[in-house]
Amino acid sequence: MRPSCGILVPGGWRATVLWAISPVVAQSFGGGLDHHRRSVHMARMIIAIDGPAASGKGTLGKRLAHHYGYRHLDTGVIYRAVAKALLDRGFDLTDEARAVAIAMELDPENFGHPELKSQRIGDAASVVSAIPRVREALVNFQRQFAADPPGAVLDGRDIGTVICPNADVKIFVVADPQVRAHRRTLEALARGEAADEAMVLADILKRDERDKNRAAAPLKAAEDAHILDNSNLDVEASVSAAIAIVEAVRAAR
Ligand code: DC
Repeated sequence: MRPSCGILVPGGWRATVLWAISPVVAQSFGGGLDHHRRSVHMARMIIAIDGPAASGKGTLGKRLAHHYGYRHLDTGVIYRAVAKALLDRGFDLTDEARAVAIAMELDPENFGHPELKSQRIGDAASVVSAIPRVREALVNFQRQFAADPPGAVLDGRDIGTVICPNADVKIFVVADPQVRAHRRTLEALARGEAADEAMVLADILKRDERDKNRAAAPLKAAEDAHILDNSNLDVEASVSAAIAIVEAVRAAR
């Protein structure tokens, strides 16, 4: 049983969410306390990672959190959870009142649901996340997550621009759409889903357009973000490049 206190925080999220999210966080560390002890000890930092769909920001977020002994939040999963709840109840994805109500009552215990990773829910999340009031309902939870010790890595679309404009390090991850489509296809196949690479590419391009061109918190690099193009990097090289960015920022302080 997880601790539960049910204190309301502005934006509708209960304080319990920070406890309830712990399995996700533990998963992000990929190994619990031993990893904590082995991890690099350093002052609290907030690391913001943004980028388009399938750019590898989630993997980078997890790995950076593990490296520094920080907590990790994949913010895309929050929008995916809102979208899934709407679809499950047969509501329209553009039904603002219902989407906001769901966003205020989200249960982070459901953030690990395997269906959240599907292409269908990702597309739906892209639609729901364009509703400004849905985004507003989720801001405080994300900021509180970022502020809590020992430090945090958040990945998403607007972390460096809106959620944590004062983040210590901002990384904007990019990769060629074809490379991203190839990665997404392999991931879907590995989950046992059918995936056609050309269709995945078309979907990624459509999602990029929607995420970049929406009025509320569009996908864009913060002015002080470090651009990391991982089109030609494997995971390890990409993680090393991200750590090098963080270390360069720390050294320059
Ligand atoms: O990162 P992802 O593919 O899980 O995100 C799914 C959708 O959620 C994405 O298309 C846009 C939206 N999203 C957002 O608007 N802001 C975030 N911080 C994270 C995700």
